[in-house]
Amino acid sequence: MKRRVTKAIFPVAGMGTRFLPATKSVPKEIMTLVDRPLIQYAIDEARAAGIEDFIFVTSRGKSALEDYFDHAPDLENALRKSGKTELLQTLRDTNMDSGAIAYIRQHKALGLGHAVSCASKLIGDEPFAVILPDDLVAAEKPCLQQMIEAYQDTGGCMVATLEVPHEKASSYGVLDVASQDGPLVRVKGMVEKPAAGTAPSNLAVIGRYILTPRVMQNLTKIDRGSGGEIQLTDAIAYELTEGRDVFGYRFEGQRYDCGSKAGFLQATVAFALARDDLRDELSAFLDSIHTERQAAQ
Ligand code: UTP
Repeated sequence: MKRRVTKAIFPVAGMGTRFLPATKSVPKEIMTLVDRPLIQYAIDEARAAGIEDFIFVTSRGKSALEDYFDHAPDLENALRKSGKTELLQTLRDTNMDSGAIAYIRQHKALGLGHAVSCASKLIGDEPFAVILPDDLVAAEKPCLQQMIEAYQDTGGCMVATLEVPHEKASSYGVLDVASQDGPLVRVKGMVEKPAAGTAPSNLAVIGRYILTPRVMQNLTKIDRGSGGEIQLTDAIAYELTEGRDVFGYRFEGQRYDCGSKAGFLQATVAFALARDDLRDELSAFLDSIHTERQAAQ
């Protein structure tokens, strides 16, 4: 039986403190990567994977994010009149159908797991995806699509995973691996932010998940975990304690941690270099500063 996944939750209620002072007034998800806000990349990936319902878990101060999804008929008219058809198309490609987006408030930043649980009523009894826009994945086949295809055979819960250096594992949720078969990892345990030197593997969980509706129930049963927050990892690991399947999926593609300044800058450069209209000018500039730095050493 094919298991359709048509709903995705985008938890965007975090405070984004690593980008202060910018995030004092600009939500992190609206910050511009080349010429589009970070959230647009996540939306495009979800659409490509067949997602039809987009649920944003937001918080105070995120109205710019909600405004971004408003259609802009005046702007469209102006572009049409001035014959800027390419820009018009770019703008139209970002339009979302009325009713496709829902906004739910997370009143207190009690953690990622809590943010996901805020969308519980909209999810009902269906499997769903969770996408963290901070984790940007450049891939020929979008990361979520790779996972949804794999999930057709496995069912259960599935998390995107990638190898990280052992010393970085304590910044992530980490998989305890039972067995591996190609990109598919059968999981026997999961630990959120393990203490240094205690990580069960170097396979870290990143911000793409396919989850069963039972995870919503688990979120109501678990205690606060790492950092005093309600952790999504713990609610997924709860499935294992009840004898149900959890898989990691080692996706193909390059992941950028856009929740950090260095990651955001790396993604900006990589995405700009992938663009025909920017590549030559940017690489000439990068070459020139590289040469200058070498000369100065
Ligand atoms: P982060 O751990 O990156 O936190 O959250 P943050 O607040 O966004 O950023 P910093 O660390 O202060 O710079 C990971 C994801 O979980 C969401 C965030 O919006 C982000 O997409 N999140 C986190 C929530 O929606 N609610 C929370 O209570 C915590």
